[in-house]
Amino acid sequence: NDKFNLKVEHDHLYIGDVDANDIAEKYGTPLYVIDEQKVRNNYQKLYNAFSEKYSKLHMCYAAKANTSLAVLRILEEEGSYIDAVSPGEIYTALLAGFTPERIVFTGNNVTNEELEYAHKAGVMINLDSISALERLSKIEGTEGKEISIRVNPMVEAGHHEHCITGGPKSKFGIREDEAVEVYQKAIDLGFKPVGMHSHIGSEILESEPFMLAVETMMNIAGKVHTDVGVDFKFLDFGGGFGIPYEPSEEPLDLEKFTTDIINLFTEKLDEYDMGRPEMYVEPGRFIVGNAEVLLTRVNTIKESYRKFAGVDCGFGTLLRPTMYGSYHHIVVANNMNAADTQQIDIAGDLCESGDLFARDRPMPELKEGDLLAILNAGAYAFSMASQYNSRPRPAEVMVNKEQVDVIRRRENFSDLFNGQVVPIRLLK
Ligand code: LLP
Repeated sequence: NDKFNLKVEHDHLYIGDVDANDIAEKYGTPLYVIDEQKVRNNYQKLYNAFSEKYSKLHMCYAAKANTSLAVLRILEEEGSYIDAVSPGEIYTALLAGFTPERIVFTGNNVTNEELEYAHKAGVMINLDSISALERLSKIEGTEGKEISIRVNPMVEAGHHEHCITGGPKSKFGIREDEAVEVYQKAIDLGFKPVGMHSHIGSEILESEPFMLAVETMMNIAGKVHTDVGVDFKFLDFGGGFGIPYEPSEEPLDLEKFTTDIINLFTEKLDEYDMGRPEMYVEPGRFIVGNAEVLLTRVNTIKESYRKFAGVDCGFGTLLRPTMYGSYHHIVVANNMNAADTQQIDIAGDLCESGDLFARDRPMPELKEGDLLAILNAGAYAFSMASQYNSRPRPAEVMVNKEQVDVIRRRENFSDLFNGQVVPIRLLK
């Protein structure tokens, strides 16, 4: 409990100042519960750690981690920028009150329509390929436009193969050795390149790979500055700052991490005589990951060839364990001080064998009706949820101290048919 900074009173898990069991009773399960204060604290902790050392810093929250409007509103209030990866995320950020100047669009394999949408929205566009650069230049009104380009710094990092976005296998960014040529091309096409971007992967818990990426990108930017004369307004180092999921993992040493990065960054700026551009980082997981739990109730205790505790949601609600084999710590919200006495599989309610939240997990005795809290379910959790097996997606509530608000209503059966049409010839 201490490891994950959980608040426990009378054996019960508390979220903010509210008993998780009361929340589950009132709003039903499965239920996502996000703690507003934790989101704000995470944002401020990371922002302060960087900006104390380099004041021209903007954090672009990676909206894909958690696109709930209420979460975006909090981050808008905190002064965050947004990293958007699709027109839908640009639209969402605008709806949440972010001005276009605070939105950076970093798409991958974008269509002309998407480029046009981003252009018209007036957001900064980070181009991921020469193709996109050329196609953007054909869109009316893009003459003289400020743009940025994503480079692949050939550093691989991340908790799973699927989450490594740098290195030779990655589909993202342009090659290091073509950067000079591509920035020159951007100028020849009539653009004003003002930014460079990289992102190497997600869930990074040590500074080495990130430092390597900063060093490589700064060398690329330095070369582009020297050879092509680009004056960078900003350098964007992407996200990836990890959080502990397993009790054995240690959090990032923020003080050391940010000091090392800023020192390297400013050394490189001086080496290439690049002045003091803005530094952008794009944290997603770090801001929301530990701020939310998924409450789910045990409905079946079963011993077949193995021992299972079956719960009322599955990988449609939280995909990470199935998709990446990710560990999510699970606690019994109505029995927080009980010792582990068994190893058990925590299984979801979908008709697939891979629908497990944990295998052989040390847990206390469990009984039907127990309320489980799956921790660290704020990032890439609801945002990756689906209705697979025709299971409506759960509700989401936000707790602020003693206040609880529904920020997303529970879906019902009619939501399963959103947008569907049956051709008239098939109707009886
Ligand atoms: N910037 C870019 C360009 C990104 O592609 C990403 C994440 C981020 C920032 C934010 O990364 P973060 O700070 O959250 O690590 N679904 C996976 C994670 C995929 C991350 C994709 N890109 C998971 O559940 O672990």
